[in-house]
Parts: sequence; structure tokens; C-alpha cells
Amino acid sequence: LDNGLALVPPMGWMPFERFRCMTDCARFPRDCISESLIRRTADLLVSEGYAAAGYQYLIIDDCWMEASRDDATHELVPSLDRFPSGMSVLGDYIHFLGLKFGLYHDVGERTCMFRGPGAARHFELDAQTFASWGVDYVKMDGCFASEEDLDRGYPAFGMAMNRTGRPMVYSCSWPFYKPKPDYSLIALHCNLWRFAVDVEDSFTSVTNILSHYASKQDVLTAHAGPGRWNDLDMLVLGNFRLSYDASRLQLAIWSVLAAPLIMTNDLESVRPEIKKLLQNRDIIAIDQDPLGKPGKMVLVDRNIQVWVRSVTPVSDFGTNSFAVAFVNQGGFGPCPLCPQTFEVPLFRLGLNSRMGYYVIVSILWFAK
Ligand code: GLA
Repeated sequence: LDNGLALVPPMGWMPFERFRCMTDCARFPRDCISESLIRRTADLLVSEGYAAAGYQYLIIDDCWMEASRDDATHELVPSLDRFPSGMSVLGDYIHFLGLKFGLYHDVGERTCMFRGPGAARHFELDAQTFASWGVDYVKMDGCFASEEDLDRGYPAFGMAMNRTGRPMVYSCSWPFYKPKPDYSLIALHCNLWRFAVDVEDSFTSVTNILSHYASKQDVLTAHAGPGRWNDLDMLVLGNFRLSYDASRLQLAIWSVLAAPLIMTNDLESVRPEIKKLLQNRDIIAIDQDPLGKPGKMVLVDRNIQVWVRSVTPVSDFGTNSFAVAFVNQGGFGPCPLCPQTFEVPLFRLGLNSRMGYYVIVSILWFAK
């Protein structure tokens, strides 16, 4: 979407994979979707250095609403128990810290967790309400909508947001709900789009999303670039089940694919080595490369995948620079669990190889 926003993939934080739709603050005060979780996270984004590394958008996912709209005004109502100060005040706090404020909504009848009303029949009102609350980013889901509703609703809500005059990044789940997504249309109307299933806190979930991307990478890369990104879903780093190497895998490949880097974790309990990884300036620079060219999987050789992305030239010598990532899916050769050496001539990666260069990397088996 050419609205001048998201010229590089958005970076930030969203609660859904980690905190789901926990609404019982009496029993789980630290884990429920509430203004205290959001304020705590806002503070930690800044004090723990994430904001300075680029994680800017603090996006409240599903389950922030009351079950019904306001009787008189028909406006959306934030949960009175869990967001007693209201969204405007919370938005001010987020902005006061130098962060940006995102909210979840659904283009259909209800939100995906069935907790609150969708935007159906209220596009103009909801866009105005979001603008009045100071929202900078809308994650628009597509539950409880027919295919026609999606095709009509996503562009229409985008136009309603545009009419508010407030710049808001528009994140769509449109392609995920369509058997045959029209990506040129989606890229015209959305800044980013989900196309694959929800990420979970596991190595298998991460690699499944990558396989899905690889199977559609020609069409996905054709439509992505500054202002329009493939959203591979949240970074699950910092939770329970990814090993250190699997955490490196998710961050590295998400960056090579120019995917949004939206964490979902409890920033208070991220292990130091994972925090360091999440704030690794070199890998973030690849994700945020201003050329905005998403990479592809270019080779699978035995159990090694190679993913390549063009980036802004790093020296005056050449006109081309590339970020290359190797994924060891389980080793190869007679000793699959041993550390491996992998050699590959550059031409096999589709890279200029007039000089006959090889890339040689030592790869360790990584623990799932
Ligand atoms: C869908 C989305 C998730 C999350 C939930 C919330 O499943 O894909 O990212 O927003 O809805 O209900």
C-alpha cells in the first residue's frame, strides 16, 4: 500500500502467541490481556533496549474489547475491567515513550476469539474511533467473513482509515482466508499481509511456515517491497520451546525474507542470550535493508537449505551484495549428528561466479 508507511518491515511486539486470549486477571494478573501488561511491555521495550534496536510498534491483539458495542454511539468499547483507563490514555502513554500504538480488529462479524464485535457495517465509525485513540497500526483479521466480505471489506476499511487523515499501517490477513489470493490487489490495499497459519512456539511451526513460503515464493516475492510485506507471523523467540539455534533460525530467515519482526514474549523473562539475539544489529539491518527485496530459498542440497536475499551494496566494489543463510535440517553424510562442512559454488546459488568462488561453511547440527 502506497501510503508512505512501512517502507521497511514493521518491528514491534504483540501478545497473541504468548498470552493468547487470557482474560482472567483475578487468577492470572501478570498474563491477562490488560493495560497493565501493555504498560509493562511498553516500559520494557524501552528500558531493555528493544525500542532502540527498532522494535517500535506495540500492538494489542484480540480480546481487548467488551462483547458488544456501546448502545448509544455504537463505538467499540475496550474491556472495562482490563482497560479501565481507555485506549486513548493508553495510546498517550505508548506515544510518550516514543513507541507506536497498534490495535487488532476483524473485518467480519466477530473477532477470531469471538470475544468482540467485528467491523462489519461500522467501517467508518471504527476507523474514526481508532484515529481518535491515536492508533498507528491496525491488524485486521478476517474471521466470520465470507469471501465477498473480505474482498469488499479490506479495501473499504483501508479507505475509511485513509479518510481519517491519520497515518495507520494496515496489516491484513486477507490472503490467509482466500483459496486463491490476488496478491496484486492485496499489495495495493495493505502494508503487510498474513498468508500462512498462526505461528506456535515450536521448531516445527517455524519450519512449516518456511516451507509454505518456499512453496509460494515466486508469487510472494513478486508483490513484496517497501510499503508491502509478506507477514510470516510473530517471532516466538524468548518463550519456552525454541532452542538457541532454532531461535537463530527464525530470526535469520525472517530477516532474509524481509518479514516484519514482531515479537510475542514476556519481555521480563527473555533469557539474556535470546535478548542479545533479538537485538543483534547486523541481522536487524538485513531485515530492514532499504532496498526491501525479500529473499528466496535457492537451493536444497541434501539436508541443507540455502536462502538468499539481495541487499544494498556493502562496498564500492561491486554492484551486488547478498545476505545468505544456511539452514541445516538435520545433517547429512555418514554421521548426521556430527558437525558438517558444506561447500557450494556460488553459481549454484544464482550468484555471480565468474571468479569461481565457493562458499564454504561449517554448520553444526542444531537441536530442535
Ligand atoms: C487469528 C490471527 C492471530 C491472532 C488471533 C486472535 O488466529 O491469525 O494472529 O490475531 O486470530 O484471535
